[in-house]
Amino acid sequence: MHDMYREFILDHYKNPRFHGVLDNADITYEDDNPLCGDVIRVDLRVNGDKRVVDAAFSGQGCAISQASASMLMEEIQGKTLDEIKEYTRADILEMLGIELGPVRLKCAMLALKVLKVGAYGVQEWVED
Ligand code: FES
Repeated sequence: MHDMYREFILDHYKNPRFHGVLDNADITYEDDNPLCGDVIRVDLRVNGDKRVVDAAFSGQGCAISQASASMLMEEIQGKTLDEIKEYTRADILEMLGIELGPVRLKCAMLALKVLKVGAYGVQEWVED
């Protein structure tokens, strides 16, 4: 793993952005990584335009899962739910900036899975 990316990931892991639970969230969803049982929960508050005005994640897991959740929460602030629907595996990998094997890929995609299923009930993307 490239050192610069490792530091970037560890920083998000140790100092997660938008970590916590939102009171009065409009959307709350949580799910686990079936390979390890780690759970991530995402809370969203959206305005009348279905734009995210606040987002937070909670739960626990490895550095990759927590860092990708932190980066994703940062990324979606101010985005519409339609924009969130367009996020893909490639976007997460680009945010993380590293190559991942199949096991770590599940870790990296956990937050996106929770986010998208919570917002839209879209599960098919996981099998892309
Ligand atoms: Fe559980 Fe990565 S080991 S999410």
